[in-house]
Amino acid sequence: MSEVHVFDHPLISDKLTRMRRKSTSTQEFRTLLKEISLLMGYEVTRDFVAVPTAVETPICMGTFPMLKDSFVTIVPILRAGLGMVDGLLELMPFARVGHIGMSRDETTKQPIAADCKLPVHVESSSSIVVDPMLATGGSAIDAINSLKSRGCTNIRLMNLIAAPEGVTAVHERHPDVDIYVAAVDEKLNEQAYVVPGLVDAGDRIFGTD
Ligand code: PRP
Repeated sequence: MSEVHVFDHPLISDKLTRMRRKSTSTQEFRTLLKEISLLMGYEVTRDFVAVPTAVETPICMGTFPMLKDSFVTIVPILRAGLGMVDGLLELMPFARVGHIGMSRDETTKQPIAADCKLPVHVESSSSIVVDPMLATGGSAIDAINSLKSRGCTNIRLMNLIAAPEGVTAVHERHPDVDIYVAAVDEKLNEQAYVVPGLVDAGDRIFGTD
């Protein structure tokens, strides 16, 4: 059974609180999301396996652990997931990036799949699906389905804020996928927004509110 890793770190909590504030500007929101994604990246990648690699230091030859360049694929769910990519790329500049287009129908709250562009041989890498919000879980479940249909088996999900309903839904559908989240909030409201949450992350990142 997969696990939910909820971050308990004052730097992450502080940044998340600043992001929740209604008065936080688009510019500040983007910066905070990038910073928080980088910090979360340390824990999300903790079980990655570095391969012993021959390296010549200025003194002598040696064998040291290194991650393979094609080892990881960051997979943002569009649009809001894009806001988490730069922080992770700063941490892993060698990572590849696949995009999964998805939008939630305003009325039914069901995800509508759009374009999906994944790197070749994505199945041989570890995939990190990123999206700031996990609400009903529908978008994340569909995104993980897309990766699995391409043969991916090593998948993890990284969110900023999750509703308990979303965590349960992803667990039930994809029990092999670990979830990493900065906070699990109280509930979903009638509009399927996470409460207290921070409303629509995409709008806050791109200033489209
Ligand atoms: C939001 C959010 C997630 C999804 C979460 O995206 O960024 O992708 O909803 O909801 P769910 O768990 O109920 O599927 P939205 O569809 O608003 O698109 P956006 O990223 O363009 O803002």
